[in-house]
Parts: sequence; C-alpha cells; structure tokens
Amino acid sequence: MTATTGPDGAPKRRVFSGVQPTGKLHIGNYVGALAVWAREQHRFDSLFCVVDLHALTVPEAVDPGGLRAKVREVAALYVAAGVDPDRSTIFVQSEVPAHSELAWLLTCTTPLGWLQRMTQFKAKSGRLGSVGTGLLCYPVLQAADILLYETDLVPVGEDQRQHVELARDVALRFNSLFGEVFVPPEAMIRSGGARVMGLDDPTAKMSKSTGERAPGHSVGLLDPPAVARKAIMGARTDSGREFRYDEATPGVRNLIELYEALGGAESRDALAERLDREGKGYGHLKAEVAERVEATLAPIREAYARIVADPAYLDGILARGAERARDLAAPVLRRAQRAAGVGT
Ligand code: AMP
Ligand code: TRP
Repeated sequence: MTATTGPDGAPKRRVFSGVQPTGKLHIGNYVGALAVWAREQHRFDSLFCVVDLHALTVPEAVDPGGLRAKVREVAALYVAAGVDPDRSTIFVQSEVPAHSELAWLLTCTTPLGWLQRMTQFKAKSGRLGSVGTGLLCYPVLQAADILLYETDLVPVGEDQRQHVELARDVALRFNSLFGEVFVPPEAMIRSGGARVMGLDDPTAKMSKSTGERAPGHSVGLLDPPAVARKAIMGARTDSGREFRYDEATPGVRNLIELYEALGGAESRDALAERLDREGKGYGHLKAEVAERVEATLAPIREAYARIVADPAYLDGILARGAERARDLAAPVLRRAQRAAGVGT
C-alpha cells in the first residue's frame, strides 16, 4: 500500500511526473527523470503517469496501432528503472478522464500569449510547418496533470522547467479568478545530468524522436550492450586532450556529466586527473562511460524482460494506479468546476 504519511505522521509531499509514450526512451530520460523518481520515491507520495494524450499532439508521429504497446513499454520501463509499484502510483493518463476535463477549464483561463511563448511549441511548430491546436495547448494539459493531484514537486529534466513554471502560473491565475483551488507546484531538477546532449551532436539535447531515426544519437534503455557501447564509443568529442570539465569541448563535457550522473566511482576532477596522468585519449573516457552505462542498463534490461513476461502483473499495476488516481483527482476536479460555476 502507498504510505501517504512519513515516519513522523505528517503527510508526505506529493510528487507527479510523466513521460510521453513516443520514440525511444534513452539514457537522458533515465538520468533526468526516471532515476530521480526512483531515488526520491521514499520521501514523497509519488504518482507517475504515462501521458498518452500528450502523444496525440503530434498525430503524424503516432501510429494508433502502436500507441497502446508503447504505453505498456513505458509503464514497464518505469518499474524496470526502479519505480516501486507498491510505493508509487503508476497509471495511464487517458484512463483518468479528469485530466481532459480539467484541461478545458484551464484552457479557458490561460492567455494565448503564454502558450505562444513556450520554447517547445516554437521549436516544434517551426519544424513541422502545420500543427494542430493540441500542440499549442500541450502545456495546459500538462498543467491539468500536475494540478489535479495537488502536486508540490515535479521531477523533470531541464527542458521541462518552462512547462512546470507555466503550470504554476496557470494555478495562480485560476486561484486569483475563482479562489484558492490549486496548489502551485515547483519543478525538481537535478544539478548535473538534467540535460544530456546528443552523442552525435553535443549542441542538441538527446531526444527520443531523433534517437529513433539516428542510431548514433542516443543510448536507448533497451539497447543491446553492443549497440549501447558502439553509440558511446562513437560519440563526437572533437579533437583535443583536455579532460578538465571547464576546459573541455561540449562533447567531452557531456560524457563527463553522464559518467558522474550514473554514479561514476570518481569525481569529475579525480577522473580528469587520472586520465591525464595515464596519458590516455578520449577513447579511454568513452570506455569508462560505456562501462557505467552498461552497469546501469543491465539490471533495467533484465527487470524489463521479467515484467513483460507477465502481462497480468503490469495490468494489475495500471488498474490499481488508475483507480487511485481517479479517487485523488475527483474531488479536485469538482472543486475547480464548482469554483468556475459549472458541474454539480
Ligand atoms: P520526453 O522525452 O520529452 O517525454 O521527456 C521525459 C522526461 O525526460 C522529462 O522529464 C524530460 O525533461 C526528461 N528528459 C528528456 N530528454 C532529456 C535529456 N536529454 N536529458 C535529461 N532529461 C531529459
Ligand atoms: N511534457 C513532458 C515531457 O515531454 C511530459 C509530461 C506531461 C509531464 N505531463 C506532465 C511531465 C506532468 C511532468 C508532469 O517530458
């Protein structure tokens, strides 16, 4: 059972986060999000959602036949990466209709300009040319996800900071219009590793969609060992022999951060000093990173294989999760509807 109070009997603070069931989940998703969820779940009452409605915002990228399978893959990866289903609530967004219902109320109180200013919207709409209204409203649905559960903290990678800040603004605006309905949330972002860069191009964030197209771009959480190793060994570092973080090229800095975020045995300074002393090149740094990556991925890969071998186990987790999420969301949605003058 989920413990909602800490050892002192005080209610635990609420954590909420999610990943879209699209593309190839990678080591950046693990470091920036999943690892933090698993590490912090003992301190909080946590909910982790597979946000399938968000995946629909780029319809051309979604194969409807494949979406359900991807939802299950992502949920299984949450568990494989260490989220404990007896402690944390894991569920699928579309199984809790309150997300869509609250999103409409919030859409009506969110100024258009706030959404047009979002970096992710500008980047995606620039790239796609023609986009659906859902892409513009994406952060409002995300705000609904967060606000429905009276969330205090949202553990995400650096790229999601702006969306969590928007959710906070949306909560404050709704409260100022209709009274104290929502808890304003805050982002929870780790200091190193919250923005893992592409291995093929260290000036661009490692991304799930690029990872699906370009083999050397990312390390997928389910990549076989040889594939993962090849991607790391092929990482772009540019020429040089500098191992000190501050002096190194962006590609080398990315590898050092990854090493550190994956719990490398040495500090970045000790690592730099040793590699310097040994007169090693960047190939050696890559080999050290590849070893850390394999040590991280091997248990995830094994746990994932065990989870998918027993579909009823995952069904049970998601059914229990959706039930608890619906119970928690219902009173908050009702409060918001009443405040806005609709519903019963
Ligand atoms: P997404 O891949 O956009 O669905 O992101 C899922 C979670 O992983 C979010 O919390 C993101 O902020 C985080 N994330 C995505 N890409 C990276 C990255 N390259 N480095 C660190 N965190 C990331
Ligand atoms: N937009 C997030 C991402 O791409 C996914 C997401 C949807 C999310 N709803 C959320 C993250 C609520 C945290 C909280 O990564």
